[in-house]
Amino acid sequence: MQEFLKKPGFMVQSGTLGADLSYLLAVVFTVLFLVAWWMAKKGQGTRHHKLIFVSAVSMVVYFVAYYYARSLGVLALEGKEGFGGPPEVYTSVFLPVLYTHLTLVTLGLIMVPYMILEGFRACDKVNGDYVLKPGELKADPKKFTRIWLWILGVWVVVEVLCLLAGKSWQAQLAYFLIIMTIAGVVGLEKLIEKWLPDGAQRHRIVGRGTMVLFALILCTSTATYLMLYVIYPLKAATG
Ligand code: HEM
Repeated sequence: MQEFLKKPGFMVQSGTLGADLSYLLAVVFTVLFLVAWWMAKKGQGTRHHKLIFVSAVSMVVYFVAYYYARSLGVLALEGKEGFGGPPEVYTSVFLPVLYTHLTLVTLGLIMVPYMILEGFRACDKVNGDYVLKPGELKADPKKFTRIWLWILGVWVVVEVLCLLAGKSWQAQLAYFLIIMTIAGVVGLEKLIEKWLPDGAQRHRIVGRGTMVLFALILCTSTATYLMLYVIYPLKAATG
């Protein structure tokens, strides 16, 4: 698989198949999300929901498969050797753009499941169509406690399985951080509920923020791709 992804790309001369495929799919998913935003703006709640759902599921499947296949070894993370430009540009432009991109992608991966769940909670089905229902939308505090207890339970089970399987402490820490993030998102919902008690308004405001996040992800992935394969390809540096 690694070898397949390292084959020459189809978009620019210096790109690899992995990089071109990754960039192209990132563009497709982001554009699908932005189209879903446009549908919501036109009042097409059900089409908006369907498109978000399909693109979110395929995006997550793609992310997991792609990063697993490349073992997180995106050329960008392989260090300066993968970058053909001057070292100053690498440190002061490329790395900040790359880290911003990775932070935005992480935020996006948190916001998508949050927004999908919030979307279902904030909607009613009227004549078969999803419609945002105005009014206060607050989860029962007992429900929050139950969710946290479930998360704690899952973490205990995961850690016990890790111990039994003899996994490294780094793997255990990674699982701990993932589960802490999920617990954090549940906590965040409590804060957002206070700030925006109206469920429909919450969906619109936080949803717009999420869509802007996707537009920024598109900008930063384009900048990373351009710097790596168009402006400063490796060949240019090595002659
Ligand atoms: C990643 C997930 C989602 C995001 C980012 C998102 C974002 C948005 C945004 C930004 C709007 C307001 C459009 C505007 O006025 O600017 C909106 C409206 C709406 N959303 Fe979502 N949404 C998501 C998921 C869902 C889901 C899962 C459902 C249904 C179960 C849903 C149902 C609706 C409905 C019914 C509207 C109102 C459309 C209208 O004005 O008639 N959304 N959404």
